[in-house]
Parts: sequence; C-alpha cells; structure tokens
Amino acid sequence: MSSDDFIVTPWHVEGEIDYDKLIKRFGTEKISNQLLDRIEKITGELHFMLRRGIFFSHRDMNFILNEYEKGNKFFLYTGRGPSGHTHIGHLVPWVFAKWLQDKFGTNMYFQLTDDEKFYSKQNLSLEDTKKFALENALDFIALGFKPEKTKIIIDSDNINTLYPIAAKVAKKINFSNTKAVFGFSNETNIGMIFYTAMQSAPCFIEDKPVLIPLGVDQDPHFRLTRDVAPKIGKLKPALIHNIMIPALQGPGGKMSASDENGTVYTTDTPEIVKKKIIKYAFSGGRPDIEEHRNKGGNPDIDVSFQYLRIFFEPDDNKLKQIYEDYKSGKMLTGELKSILIEKINGFLSVHQEKREKAKDQLDKFLLDNS
Ligand code: TRP
Repeated sequence: MSSDDFIVTPWHVEGEIDYDKLIKRFGTEKISNQLLDRIEKITGELHFMLRRGIFFSHRDMNFILNEYEKGNKFFLYTGRGPSGHTHIGHLVPWVFAKWLQDKFGTNMYFQLTDDEKFYSKQNLSLEDTKKFALENALDFIALGFKPEKTKIIIDSDNINTLYPIAAKVAKKINFSNTKAVFGFSNETNIGMIFYTAMQSAPCFIEDKPVLIPLGVDQDPHFRLTRDVAPKIGKLKPALIHNIMIPALQGPGGKMSASDENGTVYTTDTPEIVKKKIIKYAFSGGRPDIEEHRNKGGNPDIDVSFQYLRIFFEPDDNKLKQIYEDYKSGKMLTGELKSILIEKINGFLSVHQEKREKAKDQLDKFLLDNS
C-alpha cells in the first residue's frame, strides 16, 4: 500500500480515504446538488448530514424517488455487526434512517448479524455476539423509530425468515465472485463465504423497492446483491453511503468498537467521555499557545471539530463560527474540546435514559418468526 493509498472493505478499513477516488473505485455516484434539491423538494428540508456531505454517495436514489412520486413506497433497511458496545459512529446511519422514516413514512428493518461477527472475530463466541446484538438493539430503539413500522432482525433468531431468501441469493453467487470482492482465501471459514447471502436477505423481505443507508465500507456486499437481484426476479436495492467516522486518535481508519480508547461508547459516563476526549482526541492545534494564537489551528484534521460537524452540532451557523475561531487561533484546542465534551454528554444523558426505557420496548421491535 503506497502512502496515498487506502483500503475500504467491510472487514478492513485502512489509510486516509479519498472519497472521490472511492466513488470511482466502487462505481457509485456522488450525491449531486441536483439530487439534494430533489430530496429537499420532497422532504421540505435537508438533513444536515446531507448538507455537509456526511452522506456523499449513492446508488439508484433517483429510482427510489421516482417510485415514491408515483405513489410506490419503498422501505428502509440497515444493520449492525454486534462485535461490541455501540459507539457514537454507529449512530450516524441510524439517525439518518430515522429521519428518512419520518419524512417518507416508511417501514424499517434493522439487521443484527451475530453470525457474521462470530465468523469474523476470533475472540468472540456466538453467545457474546448475541448478547451484544441485544445491547445494540437498545441504542437503535432509543433513537425513536416507530414501533409499528420497525422490525429488528437477529440472524440467529430469525433464520426461519431469512434462510429461504438467503438460499435463493446464495445459489447465484459463486466462490470466485465473493473472492474477488472480499479477497477471501482457502483459509477463510465457509460461514464468511456464505455470509453475503445473509446480509442480502432483508433487501427482499418485502416486495417493494428498498433504500439502505449505510457506511460506505458495506457497499461491496450490496454490489453482489445488486448483481443477483434481477437473476432472482427482484429489484436492485438502492443505497446511500456515509463517510467513515474517524477514530479519536485521528484520520485514517474508522472507529473500531474493539479499541476502547479510540471510541466513545453510548454507555460511557460523563467522566469517561471527558477523559477520552481530552486525552485521545486528535488535535489540529499548534504545539504551544503562542503559535496557535498566531498561526491558528486546522479544524479540517481536528477530530473534535469533525465530531461536531458529523454529529453533534447540527446548527450550521454555530459550526461555522467554531470553524473560523479555531482556524484564526482565537479558539484554543482545550476550548474546542470543552464544547465537544458538553455536546456529547448532553446527548448521552438523554440517550441513556431512552436506552433504559428501550428495555421494555424490545419485544415490540423484535421480528417474530411465526
Ligand atoms: N455487516 C454490517 C456490519 O458489520 C452489518 C449489517 C448487516 C449492515 N446488514 C446491513 C450494515 C445493512 C449496513 C446495511 O456492521
């Protein structure tokens, strides 16, 4: 891998990602201003994640909107590989999906792939990943999805529903297809080799178009799904991709749920959040105050600023002010970090309360197999 190169696959993200290059490499489409205008016309407003290019790429969004305007409702689908507790990066596509559900009045399916993380992580048992699946479900529910329009699928629990669809998909994917897409070898366990069929299955759970908001690292699975769809008489899933959320320690790589210090969990206490941000959040500031005041900081590489941009400061004017103050040197790194800490802790105190309440709602959301 050369210094300007990067890797993005569902199981491995490395290097500094050039998103325009990634769009070319994956063969997706950049979200154009024209598409943004179209979405705004229908929804009445643009979510800040669209305005700021946090969602930057898509496949077949225009098809979804065409169908919607003809009166054909689509449904939403996204998921999570339960390899640990939920961190704030995971919430990005979920918060956006919630907005889509509200604006378009759609059904929503959320897949928790306990099987996938059991296959892909050496140190996790199937019992561990199942336990995390139920934990992660609470964070998802806490975001306010409509219980009457939302179902949570846990692979190992809902196999009755998934398997007949997965089998149809699996028959149309051969080993060289998956190998080419994921770089599998002869040592790869056969659960992994079959797994794309499992992640494809919810795309066909209703006989309607589906839109999937997702981290761009998950695109390779659905490339295969989209190839298979016409072969089994189904519509191709449409996708809308978000950028990878940087780890606290800085750009290059996504937040990993297994790196305790690189991540803020939804279950972290205010003290832990404070400690992590102060100690680990990569700073775009200058080495000393005098130099910072004179030359200014670099908000574009500053992780605290990026977290505000990606998630915690929806107000464009406030964000712009912070950007300018930091860049001019008027605002110091410590001050920027304080703003972020306050925002995260404000968000988490509400979220954690809703997460507790979600425990009583879990049964309503879990897909039942009958
Ligand atoms: N493989 C995803 C992960 O590791 C989980 C997942 C399942 C998913 N279905 C999905 C993600 C659909 C996005 C969209 O997190």
